[in-house]
Amino acid sequence: MYINFWYPIAQSENVVKYEPYQTQVLGQQLVAFRDSKGKAHVLSDVCIHRGGALGKGWVRENSVVCPYHGWQFGGDGKCNKIPTVETKKIPNRAKVDSYPVQEKYGIVFAFLGDLPEKQRPPLRPVNEWGRKGWRANDKVVEFEVNAYYERSIENGLDPSHNEFVHPAQGSPILQDAFKQKPLDMQDSRWGSEFLVRFDNKMTETRALNDEAQAVDEVTAGSGFVGPNQMITWISFSKKQRFTQYFYEAPIDKNRTRIFFVNMRNFMLAPENDGRLVKVNLSIAKEDIDILEALDPVGTPNSTAEELLVPSDAAVMSYRKYLQSWRDKGWYIDTDTISTERHNRTFAIPSPDRRKSKGWVLNAVPLLPPTKKGKKKSKKKSKKKRKAA
Ligand code: FES
Ligand SMILES: [Fe+2]
Repeated sequence: MYINFWYPIAQSENVVKYEPYQTQVLGQQLVAFRDSKGKAHVLSDVCIHRGGALGKGWVRENSVVCPYHGWQFGGDGKCNKIPTVETKKIPNRAKVDSYPVQEKYGIVFAFLGDLPEKQRPPLRPVNEWGRKGWRANDKVVEFEVNAYYERSIENGLDPSHNEFVHPAQGSPILQDAFKQKPLDMQDSRWGSEFLVRFDNKMTETRALNDEAQAVDEVTAGSGFVGPNQMITWISFSKKQRFTQYFYEAPIDKNRTRIFFVNMRNFMLAPENDGRLVKVNLSIAKEDIDILEALDPVGTPNSTAEELLVPSDAAVMSYRKYLQSWRDKGWYIDTDTISTERHNRTFAIPSPDRRKSKGWVLNAVPLLPPTKKGKKKSKKKSKKKRKAA
């Protein structure tokens, strides 16, 4: 699990005024709440007084109130009221981490990390959102899986499992031309993507596609941005397309919460939403049955401990990017956290930690950057200095 990426925290409709919403992402407790203007905030959930859970408290005066002794924290994470201390004497250390928020597509996202704005990896936009001729389901689909999120993303990047895992779709078979040679991956700064073709026996999707003339060939592709955002494109014909966005939040090393936005440019009537969700969830269920039984739960430490073949090229590409983020020193040291967890809690560092001192909780420990990662960041800052 990595810091310094955008993670989905909650469906917008679950973050209501006057009531905090408690959740867990990257193994850490978080609290979300709305201020009186409707703006959503996401903070570390652990009260720095004596460990109360802010998410079990309430919202008052645009702040979340700890249920233990009533300390009050604003959207910026700063404590603005300690009932037993004069307001002007509130210590500088009375603050919790507050994370940058973007609210889009019916989801509250938070940037869980300490990078300044300009250096942050992007939140993958839903390009079709609000575009004429496209429709999203009226509600984001959210579900939990007892599997590690990297396994889930890899599953989405794997065109050769469909033939075996999805009989209800007619077991779409990857065309021979794409089977033997490595997939043609298009790399970009924060991820990569590919497009392939399947022979279309997709009975389920053909049935869905009743406005269309079914075709014999389906073009589909997938890509990822950062470790936890995945997109799938499916063209049923020249005109009829699905674009699916999966924003995934690792709850911990074993569980994942998935927020799914399905865009379509056919069957646009709202009454089709329910039917489409049902089909999508039944397909997801087929994947989940496989994912929850994978061994090991996480991705293996080395590709020497599995046997990858050309059709796994997207998985290999994903692993390469993951390694580059490990090299930077963004990987959370979950082993140390598990060892120390009994009498020490941690917080994901927020951008304010780079600006001010005096934080009560330790930042989550990270595996150190590798030589390669250090070299790269040195090169970058040299370039920057030259440009300046
Ligand atoms: S533990 Fe939160 S106010 Fe005391
Ligand atoms: Fe699948």
